[in-house]
Amino acid sequence: MQSTVIAPSILSANFAKLGEEVDNVLRAGADWVHFDVMDNHYVPNLTIGPLVCEALRNHGVTAPIDVHLMVEPVDRIVPDFAKAGATMISFHPEASRHVHRTVQLIKSHGCQAGLVLNPATPVEALDYVLEELDMVLLMSVNPGFGGQAFIASALDKLRVVRERIDNSGRKIRLEIDGGVKPDNIAEIAAAGADTFVAGSAIFGQPDYADVVKRMKDAVAAVRR
Ligand code: DX5
Ligand code: ZN
Repeated sequence: MQSTVIAPSILSANFAKLGEEVDNVLRAGADWVHFDVMDNHYVPNLTIGPLVCEALRNHGVTAPIDVHLMVEPVDRIVPDFAKAGATMISFHPEASRHVHRTVQLIKSHGCQAGLVLNPATPVEALDYVLEELDMVLLMSVNPGFGGQAFIASALDKLRVVRERIDNSGRKIRLEIDGGVKPDNIAEIAAAGADTFVAGSAIFGQPDYADVVKRMKDAVAAVRR
């Protein structure tokens, strides 16, 4: 299993001072920046695009930027995010007509590629493409909004995907996104996740370092 990564979703940050928020959460011990891109088409919400990613890089952010595309179509925007400094780019198979091609496109632009499964998307969506991926992202809420409750069926799905990744023998991260909090992260880690997105749980608290530490401690206790 790969090292533990805490990836705060900036969807719940204060956008009026985004650079400062990102600096603070990284200084607080977070590992990646989770960057939620919504288009008011694939999901009923509208957020941020490549310009904001580039602005964070220009601000001096060197941590990995984990771009989660909730947009349709996918391919047109991939080169823009690669150019804007994305480290990994993940997308939903329902939003791309040629999933395998989109994975190759992301990698050809020098980024790592992730596939995102919604709560009702079967794990068979990984068939014939898992070996090409750097990351599988399981949604534990329906995409579109922060602050929703964790959907418990994601735990069984994590166990199934964990086994598939282990059997593949490849270094593929297993990320979970939606409703992750200090009080449920232990069971999520036990089910097989190694990469944890958390938005409201971190940015909704005054002391980011305290939340990040509680999350990391809870994961470490499970992995010991
Ligand atoms: C939902 C986004 C998530 C969201 C997580 O569509 O993909 O990244 O911001 O927020 P919380 O942690 O508040 O559920
Ligand atoms: Zn996300």
